[in-house]
Amino acid sequence: MKVLFVASELFPYVKTGGLGDVMAALPRALRALGVDVRLLVPAYPAIRSAVVGEEVAAVLPDLMGGGPARLIRADAPGLPLYLLDQPGFFDRPGGPYGQPEDLPHRFAALSWAAAHLGRSGDLAGWQPDVIHGHDWHAGLMPAYVAYGSSPRPATVMTIHNIAYQGRFPAALLPDLGLPPRAFTPEGVEFHKDICYLKAGLRLADRITTVSPTYAGEIQHFGGHGLEGLLAHRAAELTGIINGVDGGVWNPARDPHLHSRFDSRHPGRRRPNRPDFQQRLGLAEDPDAPLFTAVSRLDPLKGLDLVLENVDHLVACGAQLAVIGTGDPHAEGAFAQAAKRHPGRVAVFLGYDEALAHRAFAASDVVLVPSRQEPCGLTQLYAQAYGALPLVRRTGGLADTVIGATPTTLADGTATGFVFDRANGWALGEAINQALALFRKPRAWRRVQRQGMDTNFSWEGPARAYLDLYASIPPNRG
Ligand code: ADP
Ligand code: GLC
Repeated sequence: MKVLFVASELFPYVKTGGLGDVMAALPRALRALGVDVRLLVPAYPAIRSAVVGEEVAAVLPDLMGGGPARLIRADAPGLPLYLLDQPGFFDRPGGPYGQPEDLPHRFAALSWAAAHLGRSGDLAGWQPDVIHGHDWHAGLMPAYVAYGSSPRPATVMTIHNIAYQGRFPAALLPDLGLPPRAFTPEGVEFHKDICYLKAGLRLADRITTVSPTYAGEIQHFGGHGLEGLLAHRAAELTGIINGVDGGVWNPARDPHLHSRFDSRHPGRRRPNRPDFQQRLGLAEDPDAPLFTAVSRLDPLKGLDLVLENVDHLVACGAQLAVIGTGDPHAEGAFAQAAKRHPGRVAVFLGYDEALAHRAFAASDVVLVPSRQEPCGLTQLYAQAYGALPLVRRTGGLADTVIGATPTTLADGTATGFVFDRANGWALGEAINQALALFRKPRAWRRVQRQGMDTNFSWEGPARAYLDLYASIPPNRG
């Protein structure tokens, strides 16, 4: 089976969040199962300069006014790529989503190129049976397939975050190379606008999202306006949980760590703590419970609930480290908190991959208080690295953390702490629960070991995607 992934991020070259991690891991996990997966991404300079090979795979027309375009075949380690080489759109500063004035054109071009490969194959004859688009950036791909000529590959859309939909004015339609008949509620129209994600969800053969709980939520209350469409397509919607890439996130082999460790040698975890405290400017207190958040600073991540608990954490003798970037208001508020509590609260306002690894290896608790979380990866990385996740019961957080209760502590299944209501008080209660367990080192270590020994490998999820591809009837005229 030949599958073409389409996305706008790929770790370690271009990553703004979990999408980049998933694009690096899932295609490789599918390839390990014998699926011929290739990934189409824009030829961002950071990708192009790092990968090997420069073979022209297709010469394309001027897509969406961005100038001459072509597809280049190149290889990341263990992952064949197609790069959409259209310098007018993709070879410029500002990151993948900077210079937003032609954002809709850029990602229409990406989707068009994917559909072209599905329809015509590349110059070497490779043609996908399935095109699998990720997030709104690839949302028009099923539209170009549906409104284009045959043969038509099967199409799958995965929602990594339904809050980002790619919604643009209807006046753009002529620029996008879609026929006027596409502009209906059965096509790309959404409340008189063009909505890329909605188009994909309406027209793809199958829809997936990144956890079973989120798959349910977005049909009922968390769909950002797309609940009705998703409920209508419930039979074609599946939730498949993300995994952890053991090649990148393994504390026994992680080059970023001061001291490597595994669940059989938890003592070796200890030296990571002073190293991290020093790096962030926290007091080198060996006993203070260390709470950390590694996150985009976005209202949906619920970090305002952490802000409400800063003084409480400090009063309880804990330390807090926040590694994040995003909303300037949140950045300012955390910077203020750090100023108020020198040595006890520290923030790193920026994006630093190595520092994130060190944070998971050094912390006692990783806070993920999201209002919504499609899957979430940091609670998985925390578990793999021996930090106990403290999460809100939503989306993938609900599916991947077993909250400590008298029952789960007694039977050894607990892997972290879970709270329900999205308010500062409820988070404070969960923090108190964590602090109480922290004072019982044996019970703590048991929860820690349970998390570290949980199998979050990509193999199971990859098999689920493979089954899904196989379930789509072939031959689609
Ligand atoms: P989302 O994709 O919504 O941002 P995830 O939990 O799925 O949430 O993925 C976030 C990814 O981004 C993780 O790999 C996490 O370690 C990383 N990350 C988030 N913020 C930072 C940061 N400031 N520095 C380094 N890594 C970060
Ligand atoms: C999105 C979601 C996050 C998920 C990631 C990878 O960015 O916000 O919950 O883990 O995609 O699927």
